[in-house]
Amino acid sequence: MPLLPKTAPFADDQIAALNSVMSASTADQRTWLAGFLAGFAAANDPQPLNLPTATAPARRIPLTILFGTESGNAEALAAQARKVATRLGFAPKVVDMADISLEQLAEMDNVLAIVSTWGEGDPPQRAIDFQDALMAEGAPRLDRVRYAVLALGDRAYAQFCAVGQRIDDRFSELGATRIAARLECDVDFEASANAWIDATLPILKPADEPEANHAVIHVDFARPSTDGPTRAKPFTAEATDRVRLTGSRSTSDTHHIELSLEGSGIAYEPGDALGVVPRNDPALADAVLTAAGLSGDAALRTALIERLDITTLTGKQVADFAALTGFAADPGWETGRQIVDLLEAGASKLTADQLTGLLRPLPPRYYSIASSRKAVGEAAHLLVAGLRYTSFGRARQGVASIDLTQRTRDRAQVFLRPNPHFRLPTDPNRPVIMIGPGTGVAPFRGFLQEREAVGATGKNWLFFGHRNFTHDFLYQLEMQDWLKDGVLHRLDVAFSRDQPQKRYVQDAMWDQRAALAGWLRDGAALYVCGDMNAMAKDVHATLMRILGETGSKDAKAELDAIRRDGRYLRDVY
Ligand SMILES: Cc1cc2nc3c(=O)[nH]c(=O)nc-3n(C[C@H](O)[C@H](O)[C@H](O)COP(=O)(O)OP(=O)(O)OC[C@H]3O[C@@H](n4cnc5c(N)ncnc54)[C@H](O)[C@@H]3O)c2cc1C
Ligand SMILES: Cc1cc2nc3c(=O)[nH]c(=O)nc-3n(C[C@H](O)[C@H](O)[C@H](O)COP(=O)(O)O)c2cc1C
Repeated sequence: MPLLPKTAPFADDQIAALNSVMSASTADQRTWLAGFLAGFAAANDPQPLNLPTATAPARRIPLTILFGTESGNAEALAAQARKVATRLGFAPKVVDMADISLEQLAEMDNVLAIVSTWGEGDPPQRAIDFQDALMAEGAPRLDRVRYAVLALGDRAYAQFCAVGQRIDDRFSELGATRIAARLECDVDFEASANAWIDATLPILKPADEPEANHAVIHVDFARPSTDGPTRAKPFTAEATDRVRLTGSRSTSDTHHIELSLEGSGIAYEPGDALGVVPRNDPALADAVLTAAGLSGDAALRTALIERLDITTLTGKQVADFAALTGFAADPGWETGRQIVDLLEAGASKLTADQLTGLLRPLPPRYYSIASSRKAVGEAAHLLVAGLRYTSFGRARQGVASIDLTQRTRDRAQVFLRPNPHFRLPTDPNRPVIMIGPGTGVAPFRGFLQEREAVGATGKNWLFFGHRNFTHDFLYQLEMQDWLKDGVLHRLDVAFSRDQPQKRYVQDAMWDQRAALAGWLRDGAALYVCGDMNAMAKDVHATLMRILGETGSKDAKAELDAIRRDGRYLRDVY
């Protein structure tokens, strides 16, 4: 927010007071104020200031910018669309899919829907109810709605932009009018999404609407560049400490990494994540260059290491490569393979442009912050599991996790990825239950540091799980200290490979079902972090079983109500 400069013709305390009002104001309030001041000047000054006159604005066109988000991208685009829409003379309202009923939707004239896809083609958690209601048989007609859909996704997933497609198709089926073709965005969505918003909003404006621009006093409160590092301009954080937490005989390779954020301007809250801009493995870049017949091109090698995604392989890339070279592959050939496999299998020489044309930009990876600034100051701790696996006979390594833990060990390129929907309760008396096996424990270490630092009186219960007690008990000593000091009231663990029968966090939850249901019914907030596919689904199913077993007539309805109450929050990946 650009504020009044020190040179403004006011006393210092007046500047401070005005800045305080401005920084907390909404766009509508500022527009009103601008109009008021212009009118005031016109009425009182013999020579009015040369400001836009505060004429009664022409009717502004209602527009609902509806977003469904998990990690904030759709919400950020909705905020961007709001700015553009205001400029164009709309009266835009940004609405979370979590906060709207279909009956309200049916009353709307113009809707811009921006939604991401998660899991395996699932909606963001807070958009689940909206999607369910939309797909239900009794969904109301949407005949008066004119709309367009911007879908966010990642081509590396089989169900690319599935939720955006589903919503678009269903709106149309229910009688709404699609005014522009859906945009489906891959991970590098910013430029194309903004261009689409700029092009689509003018179409959404009915042709017979008068131009309202002249009546809108436009004050551009663009976000200042001091907003902190971004994905495009990350901060180089020095790694001040690092410890391998899993034992040498562990099957996993998990590291605690401390990064200095001094001078970065990054002010995170527990629950937030850091975005990390990784570097590819130079040896893999060399293998790609060799397979494409392009060894020796130093500039291209740098681009392959620093800027381009040389691991993901999508069906579209296989098709693009086939168009270039005539390579034939069965549908699904890309699954479990990488670009290097395609180039080797195709055995065709490419030009540098052909190769870079095949590749998408290198996307950042996200890591939950495992600390609280109240405990560690201008630093962020990460818990990173190095990923290694073999597929199609080739040993593979995770790009960012191996870069962070093995290759670039002294620093990391980072930016903040806020997670406003995964926050500790505002009421420090509220009990919290945290379910965080594996690296899922990371944000809960931050939560516990925070609860300790603020002297929160609410009880804390952690469920942790991993493979072996001896090798994989991440942060074991800290957890035991917290138990001893009374910061942690309960700690239940499940080590899957310590006994013949596999045991997971959901089994520990089930063992404690009466107490767990009691905490929940007494108002506890429950958090789940970690593996999305196996763990989060099993934990969800176990929660329903627990509620059913402990007296709920409709466990799904009870858990839905807890979720709607903001007490069942998940950060799963
Ligand atoms: C909000 C959020 C928070 C996160 N927090 C953490 C955290 O605190 N700690 C942490 O360690 N991670 C965390 N992650 C995950 C992290 O972002 C990365 O996804 C992870 O480190 C892997 O990234 P990578 O670049 O090393 O692997 P990549 O190079 O991205 O490789 C991953 C890909 O490899 C393939 N793959 C993986 N295993 C196999 C296999 N066995 N067989 C075949 N293919 C396979 C899959 O296609 C997978 O998508 C978080 C993710 C999100 C979204
Ligand atoms: C764990 C995980 C699962 C995802 N699943 C899908 C998917 O099935 N299909 C897809 O197109 N994108 C998928 N994505 C990509 C997201 O849709 C993409 O990152 C999007 O920009 C997120 O937008 P949001 O921040 O508004 O939620 C997934 C991302 C993550 C981290």
